[in-house]
Amino acid sequence: MRVFIAGIDGYLGWTLAQALTARGHEVGGADGYFRRKWVDEMGSWSAIPIVSMKERLEAFRERYGKRLPFWEGDLRSYPFVEQALREFRPDAVVHLGECPSAPYSAIDVEHAVFVQTNNLTTTFHLLFAMKAIAPEAHLVKLGTMGEYGTPNLDIPEGFFEVEYRGRKDRLPFPRQAGSWYHWSKVHGSNNVMFASKLWDLAATDIMQGIVFGTHPAEMGDDPRLATRLDFDQAFGTIVNRFCCQAVIGHPLTLYGSGTQQRGFLPLQDSMQCLALAVENPPKRGEYRVLNQFQQVYRLDDWAGKVAKAADAFGLKTEIRHLDNPRKEQEEHHYRPDHDELTRLGYRPSGDMDAELRTMLARLLPHAERIRGKSEALLPDIRWTGDRSRVSYRLPT
Ligand SMILES: NC(=O)c1ccc[n+]([C@@H]2O[C@H](COP(=O)([O-])OP(=O)(O)OC[C@H]3O[C@@H](n4cnc5c(N)ncnc54)[C@H](O)[C@@H]3O)[C@@H](O)[C@H]2O)c1
Repeated sequence: MRVFIAGIDGYLGWTLAQALTARGHEVGGADGYFRRKWVDEMGSWSAIPIVSMKERLEAFRERYGKRLPFWEGDLRSYPFVEQALREFRPDAVVHLGECPSAPYSAIDVEHAVFVQTNNLTTTFHLLFAMKAIAPEAHLVKLGTMGEYGTPNLDIPEGFFEVEYRGRKDRLPFPRQAGSWYHWSKVHGSNNVMFASKLWDLAATDIMQGIVFGTHPAEMGDDPRLATRLDFDQAFGTIVNRFCCQAVIGHPLTLYGSGTQQRGFLPLQDSMQCLALAVENPPKRGEYRVLNQFQQVYRLDDWAGKVAKAADAFGLKTEIRHLDNPRKEQEEHHYRPDHDELTRLGYRPSGDMDAELRTMLARLLPHAERIRGKSEALLPDIRWTGDRSRVSYRLPT
């Protein structure tokens, strides 16, 4: 299949380009290097060093024996998006090209507006360009489990049967997002659902859990092919951040009680699931929702797991609770379904503790690099919009 990846320079995108190529697909993609700039704005950098796209593409050609067609530009420009799709002629489009950070969207009005307009505009442009250029192609759009929030009900995959005053219908399950970023994903989901109905588009909306991990072993050890891994307060997702904290002897910082529950999956499982979604498209006009995660965990379970894995490397870690900068439920029911991907063939890669040990081993050589930006680990972005440093000092 010819698969176009919007957001191919990102954490998932650069890994997916290689995972799909290894499965025999022809991959191309676009990016405007925004993630690199956002992390720089947060005073940080990727813990795993990454090279320029020019060097990435050279390394790709050496390893896979073919060129990866790449378009550098802003997906907020419609002519740019249409031209890329016209030149590439995709069978499937994977849309990863959004700003993925809840804290970044909480900084101030400028960042909230940026995240929502960026995410809605890139989605609109891909939808309209697909209608114009590739109406039979399949859109795989990355949403997030965070769209559902934490309702006091079990969470189905996208839709549920409801009965009201004696009448029944199958309706989208209510979304109760917990940040401006997560609401941008809800709005994007609604637009994809409507476009699918309007233009007979085949669409898969992936409600993905929190991804963690460095690049899968199958990708080899050429450092030019490694994907990024962030640890700053806005772009470092929790397990990646804990592992970076562990390798520099920094306390593992839990927000609030740590009893919050979320769905998680390792990077290689995210790749497996996305490949399965691409290779098993729904029929035209169908809007399909897949809940994509391996298992639900409590956040404090991860702190314990990372501390234990770090201990095997002789790293002593302390677990610290900070005032929660977010507005979220800490004690809550959480039981989302996730059967559809299993039906498509998803088999979890397994041992999470082994995955953590691999991550720590890969991060240890970069401890000085992480230490150099350790200020970026601490959360001073608050959901209320008041930006103030938490009362907590870094160890010297
Ligand atoms: N990483 C996770 O844990 C996770 C979990 C759930 C959902 N997701 C979703 O998966 C997708 C990818 O996540 P990621 O972690 O790889 O993020 P990422 O920021 O690393 O990747 C997104 C890429 O899109 C590019 N991009 C964004 N806006 C653009 C624009 N206007 N023009 C051109 N390029 C643009 C960025 O430069 C970046 O390279 C996102 O939609 C995110 O919401 C990620």
